[in-house]
Amino acid sequence: MVQDKKTQPIGIFDSGIGGLTVAKAIINVLPNERIVYFGDTAHLPYGDKSTAAIQAYAVKICDLLIKQQCKVILIACNSASAAAYELVKEYVGSKAKVLNVIDPTIQYIGQTYPSQTIGLIGTKQTVNSNVYKKKVDDLELDIQLKSHATPLLADMIEEGFFNDSISESVIEAYLSNDSLQGIEALILGCTHYPLIKKQIEQYYEGKVDVLDASQIVAEYVKAFLDENNLASERLLGDHKFYVSDFTRSFEESTRIFFKRQVYLEHYPLWE
Ligand code: DGL
Repeated sequence: MVQDKKTQPIGIFDSGIGGLTVAKAIINVLPNERIVYFGDTAHLPYGDKSTAAIQAYAVKICDLLIKQQCKVILIACNSASAAAYELVKEYVGSKAKVLNVIDPTIQYIGQTYPSQTIGLIGTKQTVNSNVYKKKVDDLELDIQLKSHATPLLADMIEEGFFNDSISESVIEAYLSNDSLQGIEALILGCTHYPLIKKQIEQYYEGKVDVLDASQIVAEYVKAFLDENNLASERLLGDHKFYVSDFTRSFEESTRIFFKRQVYLEHYPLWE
């Protein structure tokens, strides 16, 4: 039975295609794992949605990922991790292991930055939920978390504005905010931000560590599969990429987040 589980796919879901940064990191670190990705493009963006709405979407997406026999469901979206992780975990129960993108980062912060001051940027949902702050406080390691919602960044990146002067101005306007001063490291708490990591590093001129959560999450998932005897020994079958609303523009944007264009299958979960 354990053998069968190992060959089952990893389900990854996000509000849209930004979570492909996480899927890409997972595939790089775990080349033997088959991925079933679901992007809820019909409800994008989650960053401005209510907790109740995100919870309702997440539960329905999990039904699909369970139907696809996923052994692990990874909530790749920070906003959904903040709003729906506890509920989804309870809902899914023993049918699959549920992971989020916040806990791996919290664990990393605890190991690397005790007694230091850390910054967080993310959507309004992620920052205003205070989930990072609560989890950092629970570590009891005297870590101070300073956070700032940066809602323009995800749209900006999706529209292709990165590595240019427009994105440089927006990044500078956000990072120079009073609430983010005096930090030793900055958590990139959103699926889209790995794409502007270099620009953020340039802004800080090496004085602040910039933490790409997708890398940290991929390493965490690898350790989790090993510990739970769930790692696949070879890749069986193709990855699948579903979206709840299909447009050509979403498909073209996969190139930004996945480094190559992927074929998106329309799965009308809400019709
Ligand atoms: N995926 C979202 C996140 O990581 C960003 C995009 C959105 O707001 O839906 O928070």
